[in-house]
Amino acid sequence: MSDISVIGLGAMGSALARTLIKNGYIVTVWNRSKDKIGPLVSEGAIAAGSASEAIDASLATIICIKSHDQTLELLQTCKTSLNGKTIIELSTGGASEADALTQFIAAQGGSWLVGIINSYPTAIGGKDTVLTVVGEPALWEKWQPHITALGGGSIHVGTNASMLAALFAALFTTRQGFMFGMLYGALVCQKAGIPLDNFAKLIPVSMGVLPSYHQYFADTAPTGNFDNPPATMATYTAALDDALKTFDEVGAPNELPKLFSDAAHKGMDAGLEDKALTALVELFNRN
Ligand SMILES: NC(=O)c1ccc[n+]([C@@H]2O[C@H](COP(=O)([O-])OP(=O)(O)OC[C@H]3O[C@@H](n4cnc5c(N)ncnc54)[C@H](OP(=O)(O)O)[C@@H]3O)[C@@H](O)[C@H]2O)c1
Repeated sequence: MSDISVIGLGAMGSALARTLIKNGYIVTVWNRSKDKIGPLVSEGAIAAGSASEAIDASLATIICIKSHDQTLELLQTCKTSLNGKTIIELSTGGASEADALTQFIAAQGGSWLVGIINSYPTAIGGKDTVLTVVGEPALWEKWQPHITALGGGSIHVGTNASMLAALFAALFTTRQGFMFGMLYGALVCQKAGIPLDNFAKLIPVSMGVLPSYHQYFADTAPTGNFDNPPATMATYTAALDDALKTFDEVGAPNELPKLFSDAAHKGMDAGLEDKALTALVELFNRN
């Protein structure tokens, strides 16, 4: 019996299997296309002849293929029992797909953890790399050593499979807020005749304030205390209005700054001018 199995040896699955081997675990591997198995075997993995054999070989199997739908399909066609086995699903997927997959595993007598890998394959094994994982706390404790070998900063975030998709959506939206901020920033620069390489060079300078933005959020939204902020809703609204006015004056598309300004004005209209901007979370949730 091996310590753990890995199904799916694409860019990510190979990195996972390789890292587990480097950490001293006995690892069984399987991939649909056989050519991806050889390199891992030469690094010390045991080759399984099928997905069923891989699942049989260990108490836990990491699956890292395309998405939850493909994992469900694969498990449905496997001829082995999942009774007493743990599937650690690390393929990406949506909330309803995660629910369908985990319900199937549980109905077969198996148990599950579902995780999101928040990094490229090159960062697997790093001490700051984070896998966010949901599932029963006892299972997380049991498999935590293997998972933290893959990402030293990995965390257990809940018990419900569909939570992970919501968390992914939240974190992805946070990053994309930055991405689309740069895109719209480029539009206003272009209209004003500012070379984009100058804008690009200044973005890291502007990003220097991000830790204090994060602190502002972390001190207020999770605690629900929006009083006495270092910058009030009124202060933000005035600055957001100025930015929107500039977009309009230079003739740049204004959808994003308008979204920000409109949201801040809803806070002002609700009488939150002295509160933190993050009081909008509570306001929008109530409405
Ligand atoms: N790469 C990243 O940076 C990254 C980061 C975070 C999360 N992820 C997630 O990790 C998962 C794998 O990504 P990857 O980068 O390793 O992709 P990849 O290099 O394209 O590899 C995909 C793997 O999935 C297998 N596969 C696809 N459909 C399958 C099916 N129906 N049945 C069995 N095996 C199937 C492929 O097998 P074949 O070799 O036979 O085609 C291959 O091993 C994805 O869910 C991805 O979102 C990736």
